[in-house]
Amino acid sequence: MKYLITGGAGFIGSHLAEELLQDGCQVSVLDDLSTGSIRNIQQLKADSNFSYTIGSIMDLPLLAELIDDADAVFHLAAAVGVRRIVDDPVQTIVTNIRGTENVLEQADKKKKKVLLASTSEVYGKSAQLPFHEDGDIVIGPTCRPRWSYACSKAIDEFLALAYDKSRDLPTVIVRLFNTVGPRQTGRYGMVIPRFVRQALADEELTVYGDGEQTRCFAHVSDIVEALRKLMQHPQGRGKVINIGSQEEVTINQLAERVIARTGSQSVIKRIPFDVAYSADFEDMERRKPCLEAARQIIDYAPRRNLDVIIDDMAAYCRENPE
Ligand SMILES: NC(=O)c1ccc[n+]([C@@H]2O[C@H](COP(=O)([O-])OP(=O)(O)OC[C@H]3O[C@@H](n4cnc5c(N)ncnc54)[C@H](O)[C@@H]3O)[C@@H](O)[C@H]2O)c1
Repeated sequence: MKYLITGGAGFIGSHLAEELLQDGCQVSVLDDLSTGSIRNIQQLKADSNFSYTIGSIMDLPLLAELIDDADAVFHLAAAVGVRRIVDDPVQTIVTNIRGTENVLEQADKKKKKVLLASTSEVYGKSAQLPFHEDGDIVIGPTCRPRWSYACSKAIDEFLALAYDKSRDLPTVIVRLFNTVGPRQTGRYGMVIPRFVRQALADEELTVYGDGEQTRCFAHVSDIVEALRKLMQHPQGRGKVINIGSQEEVTINQLAERVIARTGSQSVIKRIPFDVAYSADFEDMERRKPCLEAARQIIDYAPRRNLDVIIDDMAAYCRENPE
């Protein structure tokens, strides 16, 4: 099998490329390097089963050629990260909606299966925990740019499901919850890489808001294994499936855990959301997935806990100063 990974030079995409190569597959990557980096795929260049193209999913002839040349597509390219979404909402909306439309349109011509990487952000402010794939989604107002990411990914989901149902294009939609691991950068608002780098430098750990909001963090190695299996399993087709961890922590607890595990002298500093992001910023209180669908289809259960995640991230940050 030959897989095209859009966004394959990004954090999750580069780990997915490794996972597929280890499984004996061929991998081709398309990435415009807007948030990804050649460094993420440097170690794969020598593998004859690996190829990459620097370019955009907005370039239709290029996209068509690469999709034609593959058997199936992992579509991960997107504008990602809370910081980036708040700073550049136009880019977020255009990349995530038009870009996904391009991928589905080109894949449909040759009926190449598409796995769409969606996000737990689509659940928005829902209070129906744990989040179940069939649950209602509760998105904030359009005057708050943060919600453009959730809405753009929700439109992507509608579009992928519509292609599957009405055009018979095989698709599978995976709602990823917070994913962490080596190569993730804190530059676009991701909390664990930021905390770990602050802790290693004995700087203040900056907690946004009151820190009582909770999240569940999954290790990228567990996630990419699940992505591969969901693409390869026929029962994933036409479904929306949560993937993540159920180990819930407050951001305050997370900061304390990072300080303890790295042996840091850092202290915690709280910064109001309006200072960290903007006056119109809104956050969600809790985000925890129901993982029953993934368990039933691919026997999914995350194997690496939060301590392993923090230790791996710290080892990576020590070896790779930013
Ligand atoms: N990391 C998480 O916790 C998380 C959670 C939920 C969903 N996701 C989804 O997973 C996917 C991968 O995210 P990630 O965390 O690896 O982020 P990332 O920023 O590292 O990866 C996105 C990649 O897409 C590339 N890209 C952006 N626009 C492009 C374009 N027009 N053409 C080609 N490439 C383009 C970027 O350069 C980058 O390499 C995204 O779709 C994201 O929405 C991630």
